Amino acid sequence: MLKYFCYTAFLTFFISVFYNYSYFDYIKKYIYYNKNNSKKLFSPEELRSYNGEIKQEIYLALLGNVFDVTKGAQHYGSGQTYNVFVGRDASRNFIDGKFNDEDISDDIIGLDDKELLSLDKWLKFYKKEYKKVGLLIGKHYDDNGSLTQYGKEVRSLIKKAYKAQGIEDALKKKYPPCNIEYDAIKGSRVWCSNRSGGIERDWIGVPRQFYETGSQSYRCACISKEDLNLGNIKEYENCQLNSISCYLGNV
Ligand SMILES: *[C@@H]1O[C@H](CO)[C@@H](O)[C@H](O)[C@H]1NC(C)=O
Ligand SMILES: *[C@@H]1O[C@H](CO)[C@@H](O)[C@H](O)[C@H]1NC(C)=O
Ligand SMILES: *[C@@H]1O[C@H](CO)[C@@H](O)[C@H](O)[C@H]1NC(C)=O
Repeated sequence: MLKYFCYTAFLTFFISVFYNYSYFDYIKKYIYYNKNNSKKLFSPEELRSYNGEIKQEIYLALLGNVFDVTKGAQHYGSGQTYNVFVGRDASRNFIDGKFNDEDISDDIIGLDDKELLSLDKWLKFYKKEYKKVGLLIGKHYDDNGSLTQYGKEVRSLIKKAYKAQGIEDALKKKYPPCNIEYDAIKGSRVWCSNRSGGIERDWIGVPRQFYETGSQSYRCACISKEDLNLGNIKEYENCQLNSISCYLGNV
């Protein structure tokens, strides 16, 4: 009897949670979104009409993904700052900040890694804040809604940029940057602490000239004991080998 009661109570609880958090809606929306909405294909002409005037809705495209930004009309509406993005794909201008009509472009080849990552962050922002309503036929998607060669190239560049950033972050963690200060009389000083370079750690390390692979120039890095014999680090002149602080002289 008690068992039965518990079981019912649990089930009731579960179902009410299920309803209250509207998982059903979520699942429905998810299926709807994937089966249908995300594949609605816009021609550039059709997209142009979603400017809040010809059509009431305001749409914009980023990397060929079309978003409904109607609820952000105070930013995207006629006469507003971001109106330049409306009714078209102006991906490049998210990065270069050029808002003149003749500068509007969806061509993003030539952007560097940082810029590509920034663009991808915008894409994530729109996916989170607004509703994706379809795809734009053109540079990124063909008229079947499949990625074009260009689209694939761009995605692989973005992936590469994430990978490069991961490697850079790992290097920064293993070889944290030194603190640097300038004193007019004593000259520049580099030194290490257990949080220099913004890398919190339980060791301090000693300042060394650190040459990243393939680089002719160096940066100051705090090197831990076990890495002191690496080929790509060099001691600072006139600095005690074990000192956590080195004056560089007036240079
Ligand atoms: C799919 O999208 C079209 C046009 O956007 C719409 O008319 C139709 O009702 C949608 N179908 C489903 C199953 O939601
Ligand atoms: C779109 O799909 C059709 C039929 O599957 C195919 O014949 C056509 O080549 C495709 N178009 C493109 C641009 O891939
Ligand atoms: C870093 O150093 C400070 C004192 O300089 C110490 O209080 C702190 O616990 C250290 N942090 C770690 C992670 O070792």
